[in-house]
Amino acid sequence: MTTIAYPGTFDPITLGHEEIMRRSLRVFDKVVIAVAHGAHKEPLFTLGERVAMVEEATAYSERIEVAPVVGLLADFLASHNITTLLRGMRSVSDFEYEMQLADVNRRLGKGVETIFMAPDTDHIYVFSSVVREVAMFGGDVSHYVNPSVADKLNQKLAAQNIHNAKSVG
Ligand code: COA
Repeated sequence: MTTIAYPGTFDPITLGHEEIMRRSLRVFDKVVIAVAHGAHKEPLFTLGERVAMVEEATAYSERIEVAPVVGLLADFLASHNITTLLRGMRSVSDFEYEMQLADVNRRLGKGVETIFMAPDTDHIYVFSSVVREVAMFGGDVSHYVNPSVADKLNQKLAAQNIHNAKSVG
């Protein structure tokens, strides 16, 4: 049985992430979505909220498991007996960053390999940070995230009083 981990901060999960998850099931028996705490990014959503959004988006398959990563990704992989990571490689601009991450995870994970999947061209320019920014200024995010995530994004921004920031100033 082949098990792979698909890690990310998923702040929030986008249709690009969802496409990779769906297609990964054609290649691997089990996919563990490793939701990183993302302390390096100061996420908008809490870790629990991001895990819940990914669980909802992937409820269609029993072969997908969703789990939070609190410490190092390499430690998470060791505790789950996983030796292979999956990442999407969208364009040349992703290349350098992804090479760095693959190197860090190979060293810390003592041989953990990273496999890259090419996303559909529809999703090449989807970034979670762009989605957050578009929503913050009241733009339509339906091309980037599923309807439930769009609702949660709007609720979150409204709760934080930063929705429709275009009126600020
Ligand atoms: N479709 C859409 N967007 C995609 C994508 C795809 N197929 N692939 C990547 N992205 C985007 C994300 O939306 C995100 O956008 P943003 O930067 O604007 O938010 C960006 O590309 C990459 O983010 P993400 O995929 O969430 O991963 P990450 O860069 O936050 O990395 C780890 C998370 C855990 C994989 C990485 O930090 C790591 O491997 N670290 C090793 C060190 C470690 O263990 N650190 C502790 C865990 S944080």
